[in-house]
Amino acid sequence: MCGVVGYTGINQAAPWLLDGLQTLEYRGYDSAGIQVVSPSGNLHGVKCAGRVATLRERAASANPVGTCGIGHTRWATHGAPTDRNAHPHLDGTGRIAVVHNGIIENFQELRRELMAAGHTFASDTDTEVIPHLIQEALDGPAKGDLALAVRNAADRLEGSWALGVICADFPGTLVCTRNGSPLVVATTEDGAYAASDVMPLASVTSHVLQLNDYDVATLRADGSIEIRDRNWRPVESPSSFDIDWDASAAKMGGYSDFMAKEIGEQPEAIERLLAGRLGEHGIELDELSLSREELAAIDKIVIIACGTSYHVGLVAKTAIERWAKVPVDVEYASEFNYNEDYLVTDHTMCLVITQSGETADTLSAARRMRGMGCNVFAITNVLGSTAAREADGALYIQAGPEIAVASTKAYTAQMVASYLLALRLALANGKMTLAEVQKHFHEFEQLPDLMREVLSRRWQDKQAAARFRDKTSSLFLGRNVSATTAYEGALKLKEISYLHAEAYPSGEMKHGPISLIESGFPVVAVVPADHVHDKTVSNIQECLARGAVVVAVATDGDEKVAKMCQEVLWIPQCPDQLLVPAISVIHLQMLARYVARDRGYDVDKPRNLAKSVTVE
Ligand code: F6R
Repeated sequence: MCGVVGYTGINQAAPWLLDGLQTLEYRGYDSAGIQVVSPSGNLHGVKCAGRVATLRERAASANPVGTCGIGHTRWATHGAPTDRNAHPHLDGTGRIAVVHNGIIENFQELRRELMAAGHTFASDTDTEVIPHLIQEALDGPAKGDLALAVRNAADRLEGSWALGVICADFPGTLVCTRNGSPLVVATTEDGAYAASDVMPLASVTSHVLQLNDYDVATLRADGSIEIRDRNWRPVESPSSFDIDWDASAAKMGGYSDFMAKEIGEQPEAIERLLAGRLGEHGIELDELSLSREELAAIDKIVIIACGTSYHVGLVAKTAIERWAKVPVDVEYASEFNYNEDYLVTDHTMCLVITQSGETADTLSAARRMRGMGCNVFAITNVLGSTAAREADGALYIQAGPEIAVASTKAYTAQMVASYLLALRLALANGKMTLAEVQKHFHEFEQLPDLMREVLSRRWQDKQAAARFRDKTSSLFLGRNVSATTAYEGALKLKEISYLHAEAYPSGEMKHGPISLIESGFPVVAVVPADHVHDKTVSNIQECLARGAVVVAVATDGDEKVAKMCQEVLWIPQCPDQLLVPAISVIHLQMLARYVARDRGYDVDKPRNLAKSVTVE
């Protein structure tokens, strides 16, 4: 969704702002813009609908000059993605420029009030009220103090925001504030920087400061940053963290797209996640901040997540229930938030799973669970993300930046992280012995090599992708944990190839979706060697009998499936059935990518989608 960058310092601002916006492209956007202020107080901006590449071309001919500036990538919520609605937005006098990530819920009342006072508006956005409110404050109670004017304006807002503000009257000053939308700042020898996530900052620093909700930060050209809290008290020691990956991790590094790179990084991600996790007393999960007794007392777990992370939750449920014998509910955050009848016990633990740690629905649900008296634990990829900061404990999957919009390496790493949690619980509540935990852990250690083996078989996915050429719909099937693999495979296919993909537990097919099947209809069946193998084989037969073309994900040596199906994506034998979802999904990730590429689509930036869904 929207991205925000800001800079003030000794260099020209536009080049870094444009580079910063480029690194934020992965969040998903439809228009972009920058605005700079020169030392003599001239504001100069460029903005347009479309890609950052187009913005770059326009900036090259407009040549905006100034050492302080802000930039934005917009994902339209209020008003179409047009040049006019692109950020930055100005006040009526053209002195104040604002970029905004989030949604202003009361913008209509504010706009009416401002119009009655003589303000005129140039866009359809909710954001545009903000520079007008700042102007009112600067001309009135906050005269001469841009930071105070921004605070006064923010006090009028309802909703969520991360703001970057510059003003012609304060040429080297950049003011930032936030509520509910992420924003980090950093100080360097060249000046001070701000961004809605660490990605753009990784090229200039490895240390960033976090703003709390309602903090107002004043960034100056000498690199200094002054932060004040809601009560206008100076924040002497803001929370901070080190970026734990190198800027090169956010580059393509020889791959043709980020999705290919991230699919390929899964074995190393799992190795990093497992390193040092098996200790003398079992699984080391100090991040949980729960004693063995507190863990043992947990009698129910609620997993809350969205999209791909929700699918992780479904597999996690199986692992926790199988190993720790604790009942688990898995809830879509967006649904949970409006379920007024949800019941918790005295010892319910909430587990939020979120790659970005910024998904608005997931954050609201976690806050609600906390309000219901539950401990909240987060599995996330992003250090210092809101989910991690607000949770009682956070387990970082350390998968490195995930830039392609379609989540791949976070899926498998989050799954394995949930397995570690399941083992930790099982040992704490006595459902497993230390020896059993160790055995499982050593099996997890085989995963990276199993994944490498599947990756080496990508030619099978490429070949199978041809079966989807000229098709408009498809069906994904599987049973038990393989049903989840089917859901995830279908999600991947539809989000990047725009081909309809329906996913069902195989046994449910005959209760409706079977009517979709006709000659040549593509069906993907996840049918590993497990206790439900033969049941799924029967469902494959039903599809074949109706003319379907079946692409199966099957275990090496499965002659029965090899004879029946038109294409087979082979997986190696696994020491534990719960490792299968982490390797079979890799075929479906690669299949989706090949289908999308065959159709000529940008696999990293699918239409309408955003990497981090920061609005409800
Ligand atoms: C799909 C995908 C999304 C995300 C979902 C939740 O490939 O990436 O479905 O999984 O938006 O995002 P996080 O995990 O960041 O909360």
